[in-house]
Parts: sequence; structure tokens; C-alpha cells
Amino acid sequence: MKHVLFVYFSQSGQLEEIAHSIAAPFLNDSDIVVDFYEIKMVHAFPFPWDSKSFFNTFPESFRQIPEEIHPPAPKILGSNYDLILLHYQVWFLSPSIPINSFLKSNYAKQIFAKKPVVSVSGSRNMWALAQDKVKKLLIDLDSELVGNIALTDRNHNLISVVTIVDWLFSGVKRHAYGIFPLPGVSSNEIQGASMFGKTILGCLKQGSYQWMQRALVKQGAVDYRFFLVSMDQKGNKMFKVWSRIILENPKNRRRLIRFFKYYVVFAIYGISPIVYLIELIFFPILYFLKYKKERKHFQGL
Ligand SMILES: Cc1cc2nc3c(=O)[nH]c(=O)nc-3n(C[C@H](O)[C@H](O)[C@H](O)COP(=O)(O)O)c2cc1C
Repeated sequence: MKHVLFVYFSQSGQLEEIAHSIAAPFLNDSDIVVDFYEIKMVHAFPFPWDSKSFFNTFPESFRQIPEEIHPPAPKILGSNYDLILLHYQVWFLSPSIPINSFLKSNYAKQIFAKKPVVSVSGSRNMWALAQDKVKKLLIDLDSELVGNIALTDRNHNLISVVTIVDWLFSGVKRHAYGIFPLPGVSSNEIQGASMFGKTILGCLKQGSYQWMQRALVKQGAVDYRFFLVSMDQKGNKMFKVWSRIILENPKNRRRLIRFFKYYVVFAIYGISPIVYLIELIFFPILYFLKYKKERKHFQGL
């Protein structure tokens, strides 16, 4: 009998759906006991969001400053899991505050120590550097990352910005303005995620995760796009500066957050298309200098 834990946080229910889809093969197997643990914040974040609260989470999200969470049930804390699947979303290029808060807690230390972990992100599309931060948190917990799944909105970057804003600020997954595609991870991909569950279950039963990540990547579990990683890297550099300025000036926080919001809009619609064009022109050179290595890193562990 194997014992598997599915950890998640989700505002819209998207990551919960993903977790349940991946869990389906485990739930259908009589040799496996499955537990779900939903992270609950003491001070919950709003959903749907309003612009002020959304951008106000930026400095603490990016700097990975934890907040208080409700303790997991004693059953979860007392179990000795054979495998843990950690489902997280990205907030401002970092794991979300609820995920950081849990992974930095003593509860996580108790549950995760010496355990194999599969990370599963469900983000708009910019997950790569957040995954590096999750890796670090897992090392701090003395757990072992054995697999990674990165599910995204596969639409064009600029389109997914419009659709996610409509979704997060209305609370409804709908065709924005009647013409845009649906936001977030597609329902086909969410339902299809059970095939990743099958692969993971097979490895758990065999007692070896050696080939698992390669198999998951073959199944399309990791959406790597060179341009998005490049924007993520540049964004991290700029966010470092912005978050420092905002946190060091608490009296001017509201005004600085407003400037930051204008900066983000300008970076997405003003700077990113230019960077994209330049990187597209230099793609053949950059492929050998940079992208080939990066693909290996972000599709691997
Ligand atoms: C405050 C905030 C910041 C976000 N920042 C990012 C980001 O930097 N990159 C990204 O790909 N998605 C970003 N997202 C989208 C989330 O990763 C996620 O896809 C979405 O919020 C749905 O997750 P849910 O399951 O919690 O509803 C952000 C969402 C929120 C609420």
C-alpha cells in the first residue's frame, strides 16, 4: 500500500481541477491511498481581484515573504507519504504567497522531509524562474524533486494577458469581450493531465523515478518557450529593483505600487514585442549560445 499526498492552493479552482485530474489514476488504484491538502490562508486573498489588491501583493509575492496559514489536519501532519505532488501557481514570477507560506512553514518541514516530490504549476505562462525558486524551497525542506509538470495558457503571450486580466478581475473563465479565447490552462489539457498521473503512478509502483521526467516531457507536460524565459529573466531583474524600492519606502507604498502597475503594462505591451523581435532575429545564434542549454534545464529537474 502506497500513500500519496496532493497539495494545492487555488483561487479559481483551476489548480484543484488539475490536481484531481492527475490524481484520477491514483484514486482508481486499490493499492494507493490518496490524501488532498488544500492550503488555507489566515488572511485570504480576494477573488475576483481588484486592481489595487492585485498589484499590492507584488512586493511580498516577489520577495517570497510568507504569511500565516491554517495548520494542515493532524492526519496529514502525522502521515508518512511515499510521494507528494505539489500544485502551485505563479504570482509575479515567484511561487504564490500561499505556496511560499506553506513551503516555509514548519508543517512543510514535517511533511516533506526526505520525500520525493513532483511539482505541478498552473500559471499564465511565465513559470520558469518560479520553478527554480520552488526547487530551492524543496532543497531547504530536504525533499527530492523527482518530476515537474508546467501547464500554461498556450495562447500568444499578449492575448493571454488580456484574457487572464478579464478572468482574475471578473472571477469567471469566459471569452473576454466576446472575441478572445478562454483564459488559463485549456480544459482539454486539464482533463488530459490524468495521463501524467498514469506515468507518475507507474514510477511510484516500480520504485524508480529515473526516466519519469523524460517521459512526462514527451507527453507534453512542460511548456518551454524561449522568449518567455527571456522575459522572465529580465522581469526578475526589474522586479528585484521595484520590490526593494517599494518595501524600503512604506510611506509611499500606494504611489509606488501605482507606478509599478504602469511599468508592468508598459513592459508587456511596449518592451516585450521589441525584445521578441530582436530575439527572433538572433534566434539561430542564441539557440546554440543559450536556448539549447535553457531548454534542458527547464524541461529537466
Ligand atoms: C497576483 C497574481 C500574480 C500573477 N502573476 C503571474 C506571473 O507572474 N506569471 C504567470 O504565468 N501567471 C501569473 N498569475 C496567474 C496565476 O499563476 C494562475 O494561473 C491564476 O491565478 C489561476 O490560479 P488559481 O488556480 O489560483 O485560480 C498571477 C495571478 C495572480 C493572482
